[in-house]
Amino acid sequence: MQMRQADIVIIGSGMAGLVAALRLAPRRVTLLTKTDDLPGGSSHWAQGGIAAAIDPADNPADHAADTVAAGAGLTDPAMADLLTAEGATRLAAWVEAGLPFDRTPEGRLCLGREAAHGAARVLHAGGDATGRTLIADLAARVRAAAHVTVETGAFAWDLVTSRQGAIAGVLAHHGDAGWVLHRTGTVLLATGGIGQLYRHTTNPVEATGDGQAMAARAGAVLADMEFVQFHPTAFAAGRMGQVPLLTEALRGAGARLLDGDGNRFMEAEHPLAELAPRDIVAKAIGRRVAAGQPVYLDLRAIWAAGGATQFPTVAGICEAAGIDPAESPVPVAPAAHYHMGGIVTDEEGRTSVPGLYAAGEVACTGVHGANRLASNSLLEALVFAERAAAHILASPAIAPAPVALPDMPATGAPPQAAREAALQAAAIMAEGAGLLRDGAGLAQAQTELAALAASTSDERILLEADAIRLAGEWRNRLLVSGLILKAAAARQESRGAHQRADWPATRPEWRRRQHLTIDGLLTDRAASRPAFLIDR
Ligand code: SIN
Repeated sequence: MQMRQADIVIIGSGMAGLVAALRLAPRRVTLLTKTDDLPGGSSHWAQGGIAAAIDPADNPADHAADTVAAGAGLTDPAMADLLTAEGATRLAAWVEAGLPFDRTPEGRLCLGREAAHGAARVLHAGGDATGRTLIADLAARVRAAAHVTVETGAFAWDLVTSRQGAIAGVLAHHGDAGWVLHRTGTVLLATGGIGQLYRHTTNPVEATGDGQAMAARAGAVLADMEFVQFHPTAFAAGRMGQVPLLTEALRGAGARLLDGDGNRFMEAEHPLAELAPRDIVAKAIGRRVAAGQPVYLDLRAIWAAGGATQFPTVAGICEAAGIDPAESPVPVAPAAHYHMGGIVTDEEGRTSVPGLYAAGEVACTGVHGANRLASNSLLEALVFAERAAAHILASPAIAPAPVALPDMPATGAPPQAAREAALQAAAIMAEGAGLLRDGAGLAQAQTELAALAASTSDERILLEADAIRLAGEWRNRLLVSGLILKAAAARQESRGAHQRADWPATRPEWRRRQHLTIDGLLTDRAASRPAFLIDR
């Protein structure tokens, strides 16, 4: 095994990882990503844009109020204020620095409106190719940055901690160099979400909860794990894994949801009809899909008005599926899209593990509460990656404490078995901890997952590069799925993205966040923030 000294290690190459890497200059950064190329994670796939009150007619307080309202009682209002106030100024700085946002022919920034936003404040880039456009630009800046060493195809297996519990390194497997221990006292996790833990997701293959699992094994506090947001209108592709997204902006532009008989149904569900909050639309569609009824998104009016130019990504998705949206409505179904929960961080992105920071979807800053407002995720990634970078820059460089060499995994499940087990686990999560849960289903999912874990552990082979990533993702998947099931089983109410058939009401006594570690739920039921945040 090689040993390398690093000043700061970032794991993950979506919005949070790239922005933090750039902002950490002139400190030396090693950026590890398990993907084969530099852009990675869900940011690249974002179609909706990035919300910020940058219009003089808008203001951050209104954006914060919308954020808090969407969070169903669990958003931390101070964090929402911070997100929206700093978001506006920090995003304006990126606009100034040339991030290529869409503009009107007169040169003004185009501002779209999305569900549950009280104003038009969503910036896009490349129409509905916002993530692809922004991430390609940021990745090019990172590649050109002399202070960043990018390591692609590098799977972070685990964080290494000192006897005192502080960060002392990262054990990673590199496709070209094999096992490498990166010795560092500062790690920023930016590994994204958990969508691949579910049968259908808008997230890419890399979204397997790696950062949440590594942090949990290192002793970090996590929170809000039960809150998994399902996007209402993923393309109903009829296959498992990543499915294309049909952006919410389509409904903002007038797309209608139709049932199998061609009738609109959202007007009877909510006064805002298709523009109702995301969880309400997802539930209305999910109920029908679960009953075997197809649901369609009707884009004909948008396409008649030239929508193919405004939504080139959606046009490509439909073309690949052989559907002409000008003629036929497009089949849709909900899919796991965003995880509000994650590693608890403070305002500076610090976790409960000294030296460990987190930003982006892997983190839980408290801004999203039980339900994230559309287009707040890229903003959160940007704001808190910058805040974490600023805090690291202002802190003395930490020399890592000496550690014993960690054990490296030698054997694991054969690749095919690991892939099949992952699909089975995703089906278990979709059945037991999907859009609509209940106590019996959650308990059954816990039992089935444990049985699946046990059945895969007796088939072991020597691990090679590909198999190491699969084996690592498998153990991460099991751990994070277990934490989601545990938190969801404990929360006996329905709130935001957590909907329970056996506890359909929102219960005032449950207006609190659940914090947990790898050992289970934290017992201090009164605390709304864990002690490490209160003490700071
Ligand atoms: C979308 O384009 O519908 C997704 C936007 C988001 O999740 O914020």
